[in-house]
Amino acid sequence: MSEEVVIHKGLDNVIIDESRLSLVNGAEGKLIYAGYKIEDLAEHALYEEVVYLLWNNRLPTSTELESLRAEIAAGAEVPASVMAMVQQFPKESDPMAVLRTAVSALALYDPDANDSSPEANRRKAARMTGQVTTLTAAWPRIRKGLAPVAPRKDFNLAQNFMYMLNETEPEVNAVNAVNAFMVLLTEHGMNASTFVGRATTSTKSDMHSAIVSAVGTLKGPLHGGANTEAMRMFLEIGEVANVAPWFDQKVKKGGGKIMGIGHRVYKAYDPRAAVLRDRAEKLARASGNGKWFDIADSLANLALADEYFIERKLYPNVDYYSAIVLYTLGLEVDMFTPLFAMSRMAGWTAHIMEQTANNRLMRPDVVYTGAVDLPWVALADRK
Ligand code: ACO
Repeated sequence: MSEEVVIHKGLDNVIIDESRLSLVNGAEGKLIYAGYKIEDLAEHALYEEVVYLLWNNRLPTSTELESLRAEIAAGAEVPASVMAMVQQFPKESDPMAVLRTAVSALALYDPDANDSSPEANRRKAARMTGQVTTLTAAWPRIRKGLAPVAPRKDFNLAQNFMYMLNETEPEVNAVNAVNAFMVLLTEHGMNASTFVGRATTSTKSDMHSAIVSAVGTLKGPLHGGANTEAMRMFLEIGEVANVAPWFDQKVKKGGGKIMGIGHRVYKAYDPRAAVLRDRAEKLARASGNGKWFDIADSLANLALADEYFIERKLYPNVDYYSAIVLYTLGLEVDMFTPLFAMSRMAGWTAHIMEQTANNRLMRPDVVYTGAVDLPWVALADRK
């Protein structure tokens, strides 16, 4: 290999473009969406307000917010043919595989599917943001043999999610928690799924294809799948008294990873994890079952005090305490990653629109390390 070649394995620190969507300051543990601190948005903003911010680079007026809320709610209905198809899927399917397949099918019924003009992309972004929420709420019902519930036009997305999941009037504390989770998870710079969504867009493929790529990428346990894996780990630990022996056996002696800890960019406490830790504790205490929060928190404290984790600057990431929030809300563990996907829709679609507006085909390179100029060997002569 020539000496000048620098391989950016894992694309670490490779800057692919400019973006106005979010600033991830990994050294200081800060996250800003289009100018606004994540802590303020999680505290005060409706998810749709953040959607507007990402799509328009400014906060909406109350009329603009109501118009977007109504547009998303009206477009959230999933075509009957797609819902019928989802009802045929094997009940034991991975929910992320269900979502990936269903998003792909949505394209077949979308009037704007192959139109990537700014107007069509904006319409699709609103529709798909609602439809992915509807699909996420529908699958846990469908696999139990229950009928999916249609979205209500007077609800915001967090309300609609809880309503479509349980078919009951959504409870305000649960809605607030889902809304804050969605706000915190919706955008995060050039993470793997967003990058892949932009790469798909860069070929001038359509928005549905880009979202299918992004959903498939988020599915991995090193990315969005970590919230599910973190909860499985807390359940395996089972009791607060087991935390220290588990840490010793599985991590210190076994060399295993703690899921929901560590991040490619954050070398300080993930600001989303700080907000979610607070939410998780309040929700868990209010539910009368603080055990899972206590297990998560004692494990995090052991890691935060451990030389190995300190040296490598490993802190809880967004997936760690969000697992406790979602579990306390009664969500099934394998549904955590689809909830991440439905929340990320505003960010993904914003990036797709940004990429479309100023596109260049993405085409990185690799250093070839194979043989060259081998003599051809006829099939009959190969051993
Ligand atoms: N537990 C124990 N050790 C860890 C952990 C962890 N969770 N994460 C990283 N390390 C160690 C690695 O073994 C490595 O050690 P070494 O230097 O002795 O080889 C060192 O810390 C650096 O880790 P890398 O995996 O090289 O760092 P990278 O930037 O590639 O990884 C990642 C980031 C993939 C998130 C990693 O921390 C991890 O696997 N965490 C668990 C999975 C997870 O929580 N993913 C969600 C990320 S957030 C998101 O996508 C929404």
